[in-house]
Amino acid sequence: MGEQRFSGTVAVVTGAAKGFGEAISRRFVAEGASVVLGDFDTAGEAVAADLGERAAFRAVDVTRSEDVAALVSLATERFGRLDVLCNNAGYSHLAMPMHELPEEDFDRQFAVNVKGVYLGCKHAVPVMIAQGGGVIVNTASIGAKRPRSGVTAYNASKGAVVTLTRGLAHELGRHKIRVNAVCPVASNTAFMEGVRGGERLDERARGALVRGIPLGRLCEPADVAASVTFLASEDAAFLTGVCLDVDGGRSIE
Ligand SMILES: NC(=O)c1ccc[n+]([C@@H]2O[C@H](COP(=O)([O-])OP(=O)(O)OC[C@H]3O[C@@H](n4cnc5c(N)ncnc54)[C@H](O)[C@@H]3O)[C@@H](O)[C@H]2O)c1
Repeated sequence: MGEQRFSGTVAVVTGAAKGFGEAISRRFVAEGASVVLGDFDTAGEAVAADLGERAAFRAVDVTRSEDVAALVSLATERFGRLDVLCNNAGYSHLAMPMHELPEEDFDRQFAVNVKGVYLGCKHAVPVMIAQGGGVIVNTASIGAKRPRSGVTAYNASKGAVVTLTRGLAHELGRHKIRVNAVCPVASNTAFMEGVRGGERLDERARGALVRGIPLGRLCEPADVAASVTFLASEDAAFLTGVCLDVDGGRSIE
């Protein structure tokens, strides 16, 4: 059992069935929190079952207001409060020049990655205000700050997440709600299947990416979980509006 930084606290994590969200959820539970996992992939059910009594899963689409409301209610009804919201659910459209991207793919990209953050905050912030404070950690991307060809709409959606994070930090500070984000570099999760049309990174693609990362490896879900839990913790009590690069130095120009 690790350090119990989150004993007695309750977190909601979206996109928690796998990848970063699963690692974030596991780390919160290991450090004493109760966690409500939300995802439209019902594999999240098995993750919650594996985590035991301090975890619960609900199938949600973060673009649907009633789903997100139910997710927040599950936290307050099952565990009695809500301290941390991780708006982590997201994906990238298939890589292609933006002028070729179908309009419905562009709309869905912003619905999940941007409106999903809006809905999470819409339903969680009133609970946090009533409780006297809270923490929000959004999963953006290093692509928000350093966009690249082929994933322009995805990068722009994460740029919006960075701006939402900083704007909300300004807006919610007086309610003692901190709002931060992580900006990860490439990680070979299921996310890559969406970008690459069904396949994760092969050795060649991995090598090309790693060459641009000073620390010489891709991001791992555990790297993201460590940074998210740091930003959610009391060690980060004076940090708000921070968009933390979890990128092994990738964005150093
Ligand atoms: N993997 C990377 O290279 C990378 C880099 C930077 C940022 N990110 C971001 O990190 C976050 C997590 O990505 P990951 O790498 O863990 O990918 P992943 O595909 O392993 O996990 C994302 C999860 O979000 C869920 N999800 C997607 N849309 C949803 C919706 N509308 N409602 C509910 N759940 C939904 C998926 O079912 C999945 O379980 C995303 O926001 C992604 O954009 C990923």
